[in-house]
Amino acid sequence: MAYNYEHGPVVNPNAPEDSLEAKRPYVDNGTDVVSPDRYYSPEFMAKEWERMWPRVWLIAGPRTDLREPGDYFVFNVGPESFVITLDDNHVVRAHYNVCPHRGNQLVLNERGSVPRFTCSFHSWSFELDGQLNSITDEDSFRPEVLCPRPQLSSVRCEEHAGLIWINMDGKAPPLKEYIGLPEGYLESYRIEDMFAVRHVSSEWAANWKNGIDAFYESYHLHAVHPQTSTVMDDLGVQYDLYPNGASRMIVPICKKSPRVPDQESVDAGLEFMIRDAGADPTQYEGSAIGVREFIQRSKRVRAEKLGLDYSELSDAQLTDSWATGIFPNVQIGLHPEGAFLMRFLPHESDPNRFYYDTITLFRPADDPSYTVPAWMGLPEGMDTSGETRPDTEHVGIGEPAGLGLVLDQDSELLPVVQKGMRSRGFRGPLWGEQEVRIRHFHKELDRYINGEK
Ligand code: FES
Ligand SMILES: [Fe+2]
Repeated sequence: MAYNYEHGPVVNPNAPEDSLEAKRPYVDNGTDVVSPDRYYSPEFMAKEWERMWPRVWLIAGPRTDLREPGDYFVFNVGPESFVITLDDNHVVRAHYNVCPHRGNQLVLNERGSVPRFTCSFHSWSFELDGQLNSITDEDSFRPEVLCPRPQLSSVRCEEHAGLIWINMDGKAPPLKEYIGLPEGYLESYRIEDMFAVRHVSSEWAANWKNGIDAFYESYHLHAVHPQTSTVMDDLGVQYDLYPNGASRMIVPICKKSPRVPDQESVDAGLEFMIRDAGADPTQYEGSAIGVREFIQRSKRVRAEKLGLDYSELSDAQLTDSWATGIFPNVQIGLHPEGAFLMRFLPHESDPNRFYYDTITLFRPADDPSYTVPAWMGLPEGMDTSGETRPDTEHVGIGEPAGLGLVLDQDSELLPVVQKGMRSRGFRGPLWGEQEVRIRHFHKELDRYINGEK
């Protein structure tokens, strides 16, 4: 069957029109070919820093990373660094990570808990909300130097759907308007009940947009991740575009790719998924085609037993991945059990590098025997109770990140794409209709770069 590019595949044709899973109307983003220099030129990188990064809402981290007043974590993006903290009134605050005295970085640890911030250079101290607490030997300053009273430079900071968002621009539109996703979309997954169980920041030798592009389509699965074909329907992926550069793909999981000749037998991959849903593969008598629905039913039953509320999630949401992109640099792989919060963070200075920063979030239940699903790829022996926040693991270029086979495959591929793109012989990417999310993302980026936003 020819690809219907005005519609593409639809995961649930019976979804009510106003439901979150309904197919969105086609957005015509044209057929332009962008110049490849956006992926490697320092000039384009500088423009992004001048016109885009300081003006957009960025996800600094999950809300559950801050539990008590004084808890803080550092969020770095490109050359900027922020301290995110919970103040004494339980308000989340975001400050530039810099001391107003002589510009020392205020906080050096990635996370911690303090009653107030004290600078390591001359011990000036600041309250959690950014107000000045004390200046060492204050009488040695002429009063004019301390007028106005120094305090931390703060940025806008909001909580939404269990996530902490910041914006460096005082004039940026309100967060809810900016996100572009319908009300209830992120909320239905209850990220506020999820805890970081793993955090890996690995450096890749590619531009951050190359990371975005690779994670925004399922077109490469058959070639780069062929092992997924027994459990993912790469040709049945529903691509939807939302305002302001947001987008999603619904990847049907627990379903074989139509590229697999044998559509009937329940092989090891599907058996693994059945077991992971708390069911027994020997109890399942149907063919591979019915496994997805069987798993959906099993997960509903298990959730009820565990007291996990799945009432806002459709059956398809129980198996499928809703890979959701929020402009500019986030994709969240949303699942009922948890989420992968992936951020594509530009390098401080080199357009040919970025950080693939991924936080695995898990929603625990009261029953401790219920733990992170095996497909989420957590190494053995990690604490999944949500009680301790794991340290961020930092992985250098070319080192194995230990994120599982699929991500190892991507991390090997992207530097090669980055190198290829820099050839004089490459004229720019030719995006097809399985790559509509990529085009949608670049269109939005262009609006910032061209001064339309
Ligand atoms: S630079 Fe922070 S106290 Fe001097
Ligand atoms: Fe990939």
